[in-house]
Amino acid sequence: MNQKGTGWIFNGNNGDFSLKQPDRSSFLYFPLVNEGGMMSSVSPKLHGQVTSGHNTFLTPPLSVEDLHNSRASRNFWVYVEGKGAWSAAGNSARQNAKMYGDEADNAVLEAGLLWHRVTRESRELGIRAVITSYVPAGNDKVELMKVVLTNSSAEETTITPTAAVPLYARSADDLRDHRHVTSLLNRIYTSAHGVEVQPALSFDERGHRVNHTSYGVFGAAEGGGQPVGFFPVQEEFIGEGGSLDWPEAVVMNLEPQVGAGGGVHKEGYEALGGLRFATVALQPGQSISYVVLLAIGNDRIDISALMEKYGSIDAFDNRLQENKSFWADKVNTVEFHTSDPAADQWMKWVTLQPVLRRLYGNSFLPYHDYGRGGRGWRDLWQDCLALLIMEPADVRSLLLNNYAGVRIDGSNATIIGQQPGEFIADRNNIPRVWMDHGAWPFLTTMLYLDQSGDLDFLFEQQSYFRDSFMARCRERDTSWDVSAGSTLQTMNGEQYSGTILEHILLQNLVPFFNVGEHNNILLEGADWNDGLDMAAQRGESVTFTSFYASNLLDLSRLLRTLKEYKGLEILELAEEITLLLDSLHVAVDYESVSAKLALLDRYYAAAPNKVSGRRAELAVEKVADDLAHKAEWIFEHLRRSEWIQSGQGDGWFNGYYNNDSERVEGEFENNVRMTLTGQVFPLLGHAASPEQIPQIIAAVERNLYDEKIGYRLNSNFGGIQQNLGRAFGFAFGHKENGAMFSHMTVMYGNALYKRGYVKEGRKVLDSLYSLSANFELSRMYPGIPEYINEQGRGMYTYLTGSASWMLLTMVTEVFGVKGKLGDLLLQPKLMKEQFDKEGQASIKTIFAERVLEVVYVSTSRADYGEYQIHSAMLNGAEVTLQRVSEGVVIPRSLLTALPEGEVHLLRVELV
Ligand code: G1P
Repeated sequence: MNQKGTGWIFNGNNGDFSLKQPDRSSFLYFPLVNEGGMMSSVSPKLHGQVTSGHNTFLTPPLSVEDLHNSRASRNFWVYVEGKGAWSAAGNSARQNAKMYGDEADNAVLEAGLLWHRVTRESRELGIRAVITSYVPAGNDKVELMKVVLTNSSAEETTITPTAAVPLYARSADDLRDHRHVTSLLNRIYTSAHGVEVQPALSFDERGHRVNHTSYGVFGAAEGGGQPVGFFPVQEEFIGEGGSLDWPEAVVMNLEPQVGAGGGVHKEGYEALGGLRFATVALQPGQSISYVVLLAIGNDRIDISALMEKYGSIDAFDNRLQENKSFWADKVNTVEFHTSDPAADQWMKWVTLQPVLRRLYGNSFLPYHDYGRGGRGWRDLWQDCLALLIMEPADVRSLLLNNYAGVRIDGSNATIIGQQPGEFIADRNNIPRVWMDHGAWPFLTTMLYLDQSGDLDFLFEQQSYFRDSFMARCRERDTSWDVSAGSTLQTMNGEQYSGTILEHILLQNLVPFFNVGEHNNILLEGADWNDGLDMAAQRGESVTFTSFYASNLLDLSRLLRTLKEYKGLEILELAEEITLLLDSLHVAVDYESVSAKLALLDRYYAAAPNKVSGRRAELAVEKVADDLAHKAEWIFEHLRRSEWIQSGQGDGWFNGYYNNDSERVEGEFENNVRMTLTGQVFPLLGHAASPEQIPQIIAAVERNLYDEKIGYRLNSNFGGIQQNLGRAFGFAFGHKENGAMFSHMTVMYGNALYKRGYVKEGRKVLDSLYSLSANFELSRMYPGIPEYINEQGRGMYTYLTGSASWMLLTMVTEVFGVKGKLGDLLLQPKLMKEQFDKEGQASIKTIFAERVLEVVYVSTSRADYGEYQIHSAMLNGAEVTLQRVSEGVVIPRSLLTALPEGEVHLLRVELV
């Protein structure tokens, strides 16, 4: 659609795109980042921010509204003799004033993996600027800009360029708290190539400490021309009464405050990376180029080394090529080919998103104006889903480390440290448990086991986390303090470790007993929906009850597999945990809420933030039976008690109880209350029975689907719901209150594919693509947003867990390339229209450490449901297929026998 519309269009096939007049859309920004910790964002007017962390912002930290409110951008001024000041970045009062008239600049944005370029021309002044930006791959905290100025008039033009980037140089905390006082800490140095600030102290949450971090803006003209002077102090640059978008120094073409070579030291003002370059006369058509570097150093910056590496036009161009290859290699580990090349390229940007989330966390892009860079527990596990597809080699240790965050009460640490496996006790001491947290690790681990066949992983030993919280934050361990360390110990004071399998069992067994008045698992602090945070006492999450039940059933099946494949007869578990396997000794009546809670209390008392260290040996078969029995009880309970049969012939699952213990969903006098979340987990697992699925689909279409914004997260509840959560304080149609929230929508799509509802699933995934790529409404670059709001605008772009799920769904469901305990299962669910003109659809992906290009060939043009895998050729040789109920299996050994480092062609004939 975009290819015809007025939005961005793809150029070539590397995901590169362009957009005309990008500054006529608000809130656009593009990420520039590297693995070394440089995190930038850049808008079409070169606004945005540059930082390496919460306490080390080079430019002022901002929120999305600041993209138009603030005048502090990476500016590059050109004083055109006889015509006045012009901003090559588009940021001047003059250009703003002409924005809607005939004298507005012409601008085009081009961007790709991961670079950004804006070409801007003023016909009035006869000058054109091309500004290219990127953050070079590697470990240097530096962002680079190249500015090429061209005389596009018919006469000789004399210009004087000035780069002007405000150097905020401190912690985000200081934006409101002592912004002025902290400017008094600034120590500003000028030298041959630019301006550097090293504040004497840093004032932030860590206290007042000697600061070492340095921030600088440096530059050179082509041929190595050094700046001819500097404006290191912002207030002197803008002049009395001036502003960053109409600075006196430029508008009046004043002499620099500091001359060539620098050497002058200033103290105690807001700083500016103000670099004046030599005045030059350009003939018609003649160009001149400049490089500008924005750098953050752990201490004073080694400027000559930095300039040597990046400070010339050649270095800039060479590194740009390297950067493009770096990101292309990363993203091209997965490639899709269908009948829609634009959609395939769009997927490249979705594939990039999980990597961006790994690098930025949930902070540091303009919409993400919160947090300090860390990721939450839930995101940690879900981001691994995409990594399993993109960077599978690293995932085993990542998963293993993550399990060190589990507490012995089945909850987990929520503050994740810098090092893998490092979890930190909550500094703010806020007792809060997200009840969904225990459910995700098994889902991710099961994907890992299927992709790798590495069942031994389950028997790796790992420690447990402990802090002062116990009994899922209902009690405090007053004997604990930070010095006691954050790993669980035995009564004898030794560190206790258990198998990964034990961790998983615990995470799923404790919630089974932790139920509310309607015998569903308590909502506690919230579930997946962070906005359901006001029902901690009596609220219940029915939908996560079904998730946990599905886990219990799958765990039971996994135990039987372990018995069958590995001859496992006996399971060793911490003896306290056997209490939770009640059917092995005294069976609890699952219908009785009080009996369940009483058993849980006995368990908490037996393992009060420490364990005996003794292990019990249990028969695998019996444990598997216990788990299956629990799961079946829940399924039966949910189908019996939580199903809402509507008056319209369809039906759905109630997802929640509120803090007054009232059922949340249903048909009420004034409205229908329904959540998508309530449906997704019963569908994704086993709770929804086959007969219920079509009814749920019909109810979703009727109550939640809106052509304009897609599948809403919930219907309009019509009030603030103080007994449920803050989400309902948001206006309806926004974020967690009734927007199209991509994460849940894509999981809904995934669930429909899993359950064989391919046409319906495709509609869901396609809605995500169409809404995101419809620039007229979404006003976002290619990729998937966190949500689409009531207006159709794509919000919180780039950093969202939905991208992981989208990628996962495309690979494992749509293309059906997935592991089955290490073997390769092919189960394509492609619809007729997804095959190209030659009847082919293909995917390149990694499996068994081999790069496979799986090409499905459907010459008969049959639709999903009508075709079957007929034959497969691996590198031209026929493969003997093992047929299973889901599709066909190719043994892992066949793939691992292939050489690494090459692309292997698997051609699969569908008939
Ligand atoms: C965000 C959070 C995620 C949470 C969701 C709903 O979604 O990151 O943990 O479950 O909101 O509250 P995301 O931005 O990942 O799409």
